[in-house]
Amino acid sequence: MSTRRPLLIAFLILSQWGSAHEGMWLPTLLKGIEGDMHTAGLRITAEDIYSINNGSIKDAIVHFGGGCTAEVISKQGLILTNHHCGFSAIQEQSSLENDYLKNGFWAKDKAGELRNPGLTATFIIRMEDVTDRILPNIPAEANTTEAQRRDAVGKLGEAIAKEAIAGTHYQAVVRPFNYGNSYFLIVTETFRDVRLVGAPPSAIGKFGGDTDNWMWPRHTGDFSIFRIYAGPDNKPAEPSDANVPFVPRHSLPVNIAGANEGDFAMIFGFPGSTQRYLSSYAVDYVLNTADPLRIKMRSASLDVIDAAMRSNDKTRIQYADKQASISNAWKKWIGEVRGLKELRTLDRKREQEALYIDRALKLGRTDLQEVLPTLKNLYAEYVPLATARDLFVEMVYYGPEILRFADGFRELTEEHVRLVGEGKFEAKAAERSAALPGFFKDYDVEVDKRVFKALLPIYRASVPVSGQPAVLKEIDARFNGDSDAWVDDLYTRSVLVNEASIAAALRLKPKKYAKLLANDPVYKASRSFFKSFLEQVRPQHAALGDRIETAMRTYVKGMMEMEPERTFWPDANSTLRLSYGKVEGSTPRDGVVYGAHTTLDGVVEKHIPGDAEFDVPKRLLELQATKDFGEYGVNGTMPVCFTSSLHTTGGNSGSPVLNAKGELIGLNFDRTWESTMSDIQFDPDKCRNICVDTRYILFVVDKFAGAKHLVDEMELVRTNASAGIPGIIQLPIHR
Ligand code: ARG
Ligand code: ASP
Repeated sequence: MSTRRPLLIAFLILSQWGSAHEGMWLPTLLKGIEGDMHTAGLRITAEDIYSINNGSIKDAIVHFGGGCTAEVISKQGLILTNHHCGFSAIQEQSSLENDYLKNGFWAKDKAGELRNPGLTATFIIRMEDVTDRILPNIPAEANTTEAQRRDAVGKLGEAIAKEAIAGTHYQAVVRPFNYGNSYFLIVTETFRDVRLVGAPPSAIGKFGGDTDNWMWPRHTGDFSIFRIYAGPDNKPAEPSDANVPFVPRHSLPVNIAGANEGDFAMIFGFPGSTQRYLSSYAVDYVLNTADPLRIKMRSASLDVIDAAMRSNDKTRIQYADKQASISNAWKKWIGEVRGLKELRTLDRKREQEALYIDRALKLGRTDLQEVLPTLKNLYAEYVPLATARDLFVEMVYYGPEILRFADGFRELTEEHVRLVGEGKFEAKAAERSAALPGFFKDYDVEVDKRVFKALLPIYRASVPVSGQPAVLKEIDARFNGDSDAWVDDLYTRSVLVNEASIAAALRLKPKKYAKLLANDPVYKASRSFFKSFLEQVRPQHAALGDRIETAMRTYVKGMMEMEPERTFWPDANSTLRLSYGKVEGSTPRDGVVYGAHTTLDGVVEKHIPGDAEFDVPKRLLELQATKDFGEYGVNGTMPVCFTSSLHTTGGNSGSPVLNAKGELIGLNFDRTWESTMSDIQFDPDKCRNICVDTRYILFVVDKFAGAKHLVDEMELVRTNASAGIPGIIQLPIHR
């Protein structure tokens, strides 16, 4: 046994269950909080939730497409996730003739289910604390830079992962937690044939659109249904007709008795990232620089895109996915700024830091006394670079698409001589040509140009001098400072903004092609943006980021050592986590009380005929008018959404919300606007996650879409898990 037993994760389980429901817990450590969960109302065991030897609930939890969560809801590999998580797939399958975004899609039978190349579904086979195989083997800290440390950890981790999957078809990685104070091995199984089975029309799946996004009361049926296919041996296989529906180790029973306010609830999924332990210097940056700037950039592009989407259907379909991804974070940041201010997070951080230094002084811990002043100095240097980086990302990755598109021609242009020498030029050019229709299908040059014009002035006013792309000098030199005229000129002269012109360019002889591109104004602008970022921003940004990481490792370790009474949980990092709490409403602001449930009555209240966000399908109105709810209704109403006090973040979308017995009661898809600061500070009175009620999902599938055959695949439960005689029950899922 190593003498350096880990240590920090252990604090998680030793410390008391403190403030209400904060925390995203590692499933391997649930045994340590099992007692607290039972007190809170859980009626099954930690082993029922996560077991490596037996089937357990974790075997029904899917990392969907890398960014969302999904869950298995039938023995034939049916999985449930959000409409917004399946959105790209649904959009990809849509056209003006078959507009599945607008009309919904329901496969009549398995043969009608649609394949989605590139879409993956990943299960967690097991997780294991390997801290004591990593930390003792890193060369002494004193003479190791963060980069060297990362390298050393990378090699150690690779060896551990390799050993873990020898002789299997699994994948494995070793991931850092708590800024590299601990490490976990994660063994996974990834399926690559994931087919679209059903999706409601956007008027249900995205009802309320961006107006209601991040808001309560909510009435969105944000779900879609897919199916995992496996090879005949039930193992992952490339997409093929020979594949068959995957037989899961566990599928979640679907509860249609619903949950009452106060009932125990838990959520199991893949939260992306939180920053619970940030210093005041970092919070200051987020609150006063990063968020305001990013909000400003996105407000400008959304003005353009929203107007264009309203003006015609083609643009609406083309830009639906892009608009959703731009607007989602934009609105979240607005809520985050408001929440951080209301909670006085910056002041609180400063108070905590003063206490931290006090404690360190009393304990004579010089290492810890210095860490906050170090962070302060590092942030002073870091902020201008981080700002330049944020602006680059906003401009090039969320701004005019042509800048990124042009970058796709870089190798072919800069390295045409080498490619010709290796006989690879033609194949590469053909690859580019083949990708053109995909890009231009969803591209509107006029919209793109307007986005460019809207963002450029904000970008120029805020980017630090050291990060300015050289090409922007042309605006003063040649266009008298008129950035709109500069943009017009780029788009007029470039071959990249037109499918036929760039296709023709790709048919030229290599030398001619390269000369044409190298002189293309959009290509040159794109190169200049990338070059200034890659050369003037990224290296220093990364170096400072590394030094901040080193300091944060010490800072957080110090917190855990000096405050053993406090509850610590490792920040989310896209690994499997469980949060628990209850179904409950909230008091988000003075004088405001939110109820926990919404119903179809509210959909009708919000109905605006013909509106892009609030129109309601006729069939839904009919079902509501006749109260034709099947067995899913309650006392003449149809439940739609509910809130619970579960700590969640981006990536938790599509996560199952489970009752005391581990049955599905809801599908997580959002947080209330008053919750969005929870990535940095969780507030038990305000923070609520928003779920679609399973009864609404089944009602839409069965009564609205007539896809009862899908409901027939599921195991339905008709009793409330928190009702009846209290106590722990035996779950019949072990095999
Ligand atoms: N806010 C939710 C999340 O962060 C839902 C986003 C999708 N909905 C939308 N109207 N854009 O993913
Ligand atoms: N809507 C988010 C997601 O897609 C969830 C959240 O941020 O609360 O993961």
